[in-house]
Amino acid sequence: MKNKKAFILILVISSLVAFLSRCMRGTETGNDPRGKMYIGAESCKQCHKSVYDAYLTTAHFNSTQTTLPGKVLGSFTQPQNTYVVDSITNIRMEHRDSGLFQVLYVNGNQQELHRMDITFGPKHAQTFLYWQGDRAYELPISYYAEIQNWASSPAYPSVLNFNRLIGGGCFECHSSYIKSKLVMGKRGYEEALDKRSLINGIDCERCHGPAANHVNYHLAYPEVKAAKYMVTAGYLSRQQQLDACAVCHSGNDIRKEISTFHFKMGDTLANFFLPAASRTTNSATFDVHGNQYNLLAQSQCFLSSKVMTCATCHDPHTNAGTNSTEYVAKCMGCHTNPDHSALKNDAVSANNLQTNCINCHMPAQESRAITFQTAGSKLQSAYTLRTHRIAIYNGNSTAPGAKTIKHR
Ligand code: HEC
Ligand code: HEC
Ligand code: HEC
Ligand code: HEC
Ligand code: HEC
Ligand code: HEC
Ligand code: HEC
Repeated sequence: MKNKKAFILILVISSLVAFLSRCMRGTETGNDPRGKMYIGAESCKQCHKSVYDAYLTTAHFNSTQTTLPGKVLGSFTQPQNTYVVDSITNIRMEHRDSGLFQVLYVNGNQQELHRMDITFGPKHAQTFLYWQGDRAYELPISYYAEIQNWASSPAYPSVLNFNRLIGGGCFECHSSYIKSKLVMGKRGYEEALDKRSLINGIDCERCHGPAANHVNYHLAYPEVKAAKYMVTAGYLSRQQQLDACAVCHSGNDIRKEISTFHFKMGDTLANFFLPAASRTTNSATFDVHGNQYNLLAQSQCFLSSKVMTCATCHDPHTNAGTNSTEYVAKCMGCHTNPDHSALKNDAVSANNLQTNCINCHMPAQESRAITFQTAGSKLQSAYTLRTHRIAIYNGNSTAPGAKTIKHR
């Protein structure tokens, strides 16, 4: 009897050790699933503490994460947790002892039950994936901040099926790494993912490239003050600087030749994408979702200034602030005295003109790519983002008084 207890104890301890060492994966030197040249974001903290601390609060860092209670924006209590399909069918978001789940009920009987394993998105919307072996599937219900409610996942074929297979593509823009391979599945070739290789969030090395040599060098030579074995963004061409962001911010209708997991700062994005013919070049169809680069590239500011990059307005280590005065300062950096003389007769106060550049020239627009259904309603979109095509807009602005503005 005693022996049995001791045996169980040893079993518990050894599986705990195995579990903990699995948790440590990727943070120890040489253990990063991307290879020996990578060392993990933790290691940057000792020398770049302020950048590291700021980065922990960003949408990039939180772009994908393990789904945990308290981190999900939607409600798990009745009745707010219920997505009604019809009079006998509904899907409920449930917090059970073993985790968070989406459960399909028909006539009160449980038909499907899947754990919300991974969360995509920290802010505008959250969608969830569950694992089944080495396949990842998107769950049918997502949360949308704009309506503060659950609704169907974007472009989800049928909420009753729970079967939208997710390949490596989503992870290429929303995480730092996941290993994938093509295998023969039920519906032809499918992407199998190695979930233990997943590095959640967009980490330092996803943008800056592998940094093990940089870290080891500076640990060995603390007296050296100039960066070694690290790409200096300031020395890159404008296009290279833009590409470092455009790799994930130029739309997801692009066909790739090589996985963008291999892309790092200083690389040329054109080498990763198939020729332009395969992608949307009609500017009218650019969606505000995920395509900031191509929209910005159409702006006079971008074309005429010849220097504007994403970093002109965004610090890559902090969030896009909702404080519009910060952005006004950026505009004023180039437009000390914009000519609004044509607006004199309109009901726009001088103060409004000075503080609301963004509302008039980068108005919020609805995404056509992201549409969803709330319980029992028609297809709709309430996913609005600011367009990055900086221009003169008429009437469709959200600024007070803007509707009366006429074009010259
Ligand atoms: C042992 C100290 C040390 C560690 C650890 C370290 N760095 Fe650095 N890093 C430096 C020094 C020194 C510089 C040069 C001075 C500066 O720019 O702060 C530098 C500069 C940089 C620069 C600016 C390069 C330039 O010239 O513009 C980047 C980017 C950078 N490090 C990224 C990282 C990343 C990513 C990590 C973690 C994977 C990391 N560093 C870890 C010491 C370190
Ligand atoms: C989204 C991409 C991205 C991520 C993620 C990122 N960086 Fe940067 N980082 C940049 C860019 C771009 C620059 C150059 C900024 C500029 O040109 O103004 C930069 C500049 C730097 C610099 C030099 C200038 C400075 O601000 O001190 C350091 C050091 C640095 N990064 C470290 C890090 C570390 C450490 C992390 C992770 C905690 C990290 N970066 C994550 C894109 C990124
Ligand atoms: C690996 C892909 C990737 C790269 C590289 C990348 N981004 Fe992002 N970025 C994303 C994703 C995904 C989001 C949405 C985050 C989320 O899930 O909410 C995002 C969000 C943002 C946001 C909005 C943050 C907020 O507060 O809402 C800004 C601003 C941004 N990125 C700027 C940049 C800039 C500037 C660069 C280049 C220095 C860059 N990104 C490089 C993938 C990337
Ligand atoms: C080409 C890069 C790219 C791909 C591929 C991609 N996304 Fe995104 N995604 C983005 C960017 C950039 C943003 C944030 C800015 C925006 O919406 O314009 C975003 C935003 C999101 C958001 C909202 C995040 C927030 O701000 O809260 C969710 C959820 C999301 N994506 C899920 C997915 C899923 C699921 C897939 C795969 C089916 C996917 N994305 C594929 C780039 C991408
Ligand atoms: C790096 C410099 C730079 C920054 C920053 C900048 N612009 Fe511009 N912008 C220009 C240039 C150059 C032009 C071309 C016309 C000119 O020479 O005035 C322009 C043109 C414009 C136009 C006329 C567009 C048209 O289609 O006729 C508007 C409106 C405008 N900018 C608004 C803004 C706003 C709002 C901001 C801040 C969000 C901003 N700009 C930031 C450089 C800049
Ligand atoms: C002229 C200034 C300017 C430039 C240049 C610029 N942005 Fe922005 N960006 C903004 C403003 C303003 C917002 C809206 C912030 C807000 O409403 O809180 C924004 C928001 C965003 C968002 C969040 C979308 C949302 O509505 O929440 C993303 C993602 C983003 N920018 C990416 C980029 C990328 C990538 C580039 C380079 C291709 C870029 N931006 C260049 C001004 C700029
Ligand atoms: C109420 C809406 C509104 C606001 C707020 C506003 N603008 Fe404009 N802006 C316009 C309109 C409309 C025009 C076109 C005027 C015309 O037809 O002559 C314009 C024209 C411009 C131009 C092109 C004329 C030129 O000088 O070359 C620039 C640049 C510009 N605005 C920048 C800004 C900046 C910077 C801010 C913030 C400090 C700002 N605007 C605030 C509506 C607005």
